[in-house]
Amino acid sequence: MSDFRRRTIHQRVPISGILELTSRCNLKCVHCYLGPQEEQRKKRDLEMSTEQAKDVIDQIAASGCLYLVITGGDPMVRKDFPEVYRHAKEKGLIVTVFCDAILVTDRIVRLFQEYPPYNVDVSVYGATAETYEKVTRVKGSFPRFLEGIDRLIQGGIRFSLKTVLMTINKHELAGMREAAARLGVKFRVDSAIFPCLPTHDHEPLDLRVEPREAVELELSDPDQLRQWVEYADRHRDLPDSEQLYNCGAGVTNFYIDPLGYVSPCLMTTNYRHSLAGRSFDSLWANELVQLRTKKPRADYTCNSCEMKVACTGCPAFNYQENGQEDVKSEYVCETTQHRWRAIEAHRAGEDPQATLRGEAAAVARRNSRRRAAQEAIASVEVQRDGV
Ligand SMILES: C[S@@+](CC[C@H](N)C(=O)[O-])C[C@H]1O[C@@H](n2cnc3c(N)ncnc32)[C@H](O)[C@@H]1O
Ligand code: SF4
Ligand code: SF4
Repeated sequence: MSDFRRRTIHQRVPISGILELTSRCNLKCVHCYLGPQEEQRKKRDLEMSTEQAKDVIDQIAASGCLYLVITGGDPMVRKDFPEVYRHAKEKGLIVTVFCDAILVTDRIVRLFQEYPPYNVDVSVYGATAETYEKVTRVKGSFPRFLEGIDRLIQGGIRFSLKTVLMTINKHELAGMREAAARLGVKFRVDSAIFPCLPTHDHEPLDLRVEPREAVELELSDPDQLRQWVEYADRHRDLPDSEQLYNCGAGVTNFYIDPLGYVSPCLMTTNYRHSLAGRSFDSLWANELVQLRTKKPRADYTCNSCEMKVACTGCPAFNYQENGQEDVKSEYVCETTQHRWRAIEAHRAGEDPQATLRGEAAAVARRNSRRRAAQEAIASVEVQRDGV
């Protein structure tokens, strides 16, 4: 860990934040944790005004924020996106934008050329119109997505692609990956679908890919496997903890929703606090630190689990899935066990994919049966020689 990072943790500097400018979106993705878009549209008048959003940016910058993600819904649904984005850049923040690329117009490209984002993080939901639009539920969205991507490329804007692995798009993962490789942009896949926030509606979970297959697909990209192995190696000596929360939430990270509520992260919806009549600084100093003192129940095994360095689970994810922070998500746990087997296989110089498919075990069993048979034959020969 760098000295800079150590100091931000030690001094509890809110260095990294997410600003969800709106929950409204031009798409209606089947897996979206925001739930039905009709509900989000009803909240439009409650969203922070341009001035309020800019004021929040002033406050977080003054408190030490350096990295900001501006997301949505789709943040470009808001007409004032350019003004808010430019304000964040003028404050010196390093800004990443999450979007679906469809609303990237020539005007947005010019804005990004003048004020370059650190990255534009674009979601892709399929390699064909059929699959993409099955996820987005908006007819004609795929060609518009391609046009947005093209504008980013033509404008020389740095962007990357990511997808959420689902039962309805898993067959096109390879196609999405290849398209990203052809464009020369980074690509990553995430299989950990979580429920709607903050309602805990479990409908998106029906789209989860069965754990072993999800990991097999995720790690079929050698880069993604390498990243997990490196991460696991780097954090090999992570000590066991007595705290429930061991991530950056409420230490260096925070999340602000479109209505002006602040929480330690997107998923900690049970620790939301309104900025109305309060300053960011005061919420950060008081309310947002509270989750750090929480302890898990005695039988919570995650903090001492050797696989935690390969696990995408956390208490907030547990809370969304099970209603309790210290009851693990079985799906995430099972996924992690497969990922761990693949990491171990890689370390042992074996083929992780064969291990995941169970082939490595079958080969090992076959070899051991063959060895046993050879030993038995050898022993019979020894006995015969002795006769
Ligand atoms: C809510 S979107 C906002 C930004 C933009 N609209 C987009 O799609 O990238 C942020 C990311 O969350 C992902 N996401 C949405 N619902 C999810 C869920 N239930 N579980 C996991 N990821 C989800 C989206 O696919 C997207 O990659
Ligand atoms: S594009 Fe993003 S915010 Fe919009 S519906 Fe899809 S996942 Fe949700
Ligand atoms: S969810 Fe499972 S794999 Fe992850 S830390 Fe807990 S016990 Fe370990």
